Amino acid sequence: MTQTVTGVASDRQPGIAGINTLATFRVAPTGAALGAEIQGVDFSLPVSDEVKEALRKAWADHLVLLFRHQDITDEQLIAAAGIFGPPHDAASRKYHLAVGKAVDNKFMLSPHASVSIISNLGADGNPVKDNGGLGSYEVVWHTDNSYVEVPPAGSMLYSLEVPQNGGGDTSFNNQYLAYEELPEDLKRAIAGKSQVHDSTRNSAGVLRPGVKLPARPEEVPGPTHPLVRIHPVSGRRALYLGRRRDWPSNYIVGMPNAESEALLDKLWAHATQPKYAWMHRWSAGELVLWDNRCCMHYRSEIDVTQRRVMHRTTIKGEPLIAG
Ligand code: SIN
Repeated sequence: MTQTVTGVASDRQPGIAGINTLATFRVAPTGAALGAEIQGVDFSLPVSDEVKEALRKAWADHLVLLFRHQDITDEQLIAAAGIFGPPHDAASRKYHLAVGKAVDNKFMLSPHASVSIISNLGADGNPVKDNGGLGSYEVVWHTDNSYVEVPPAGSMLYSLEVPQNGGGDTSFNNQYLAYEELPEDLKRAIAGKSQVHDSTRNSAGVLRPGVKLPARPEEVPGPTHPLVRIHPVSGRRALYLGRRRDWPSNYIVGMPNAESEALLDKLWAHATQPKYAWMHRWSAGELVLWDNRCCMHYRSEIDVTQRRVMHRTTIKGEPLIAG
């Protein structure tokens, strides 16, 4: 059974008086290594400047923010993300547009360049395993668009239709803590080192349209980013790993292949420990904002008999500062 957004947020949210003011604004931390639920904010209504400021502070403090009981248009989604920074055009879009395929599937391509439709629907509107995007697949731990020169600072995901007890749960992890608790020998091993971020496959492992699978590291397309980056707002160091795929894929620059693979395995084993993570099981009409500069995220596989439709927008990032 699938759950869809019904009614308007203000009907369903108690305490309409004072909504979007500091009088009703609350930050409720998850108690895990990251994440907080924000109460008293309705993105279908104007948000006061003082609440915008409080939201930016809460994002810096908690890295992932959850907003329940939202019922918003794409324009309101873009405006909500605009509180945290200017829009970033979805990097995967150009691959789909180049081959023209996804244009036929209105369940995959938004008219807004900064909005990605993340659904498991095929062109006929029914759920499928593979729709050329993330489909119903498990989505491995990753940071959004790390395969471009200037990846987005943040992403905001809005749930329109979600499976009930049918998977599609999204987890987030804290890569400040992962760096801070990294054993000293690993910190030394990665100091000053960079990694090539493979752009060939999406985070479900699906080859992007019109792209060839690399057979050797020299054929792996993508930018080079530092393994440790300094967050431009907090000034803290975070591990920045991108995503892990079977060889040949991401590799550490200037290191023999076997050594790069062994070091990446150790870093990934450390960075994806459950103690750094928090998992969200979605209801329809929820919005989650995360910081790609210091978090990774993961999505569990979706029951292919159930529909899942999400709209995601991304926030422009800054050139990376190597740590
Ligand atoms: C994503 O990787 O941005 C999608 C996450 C999700 O579908 O929950």
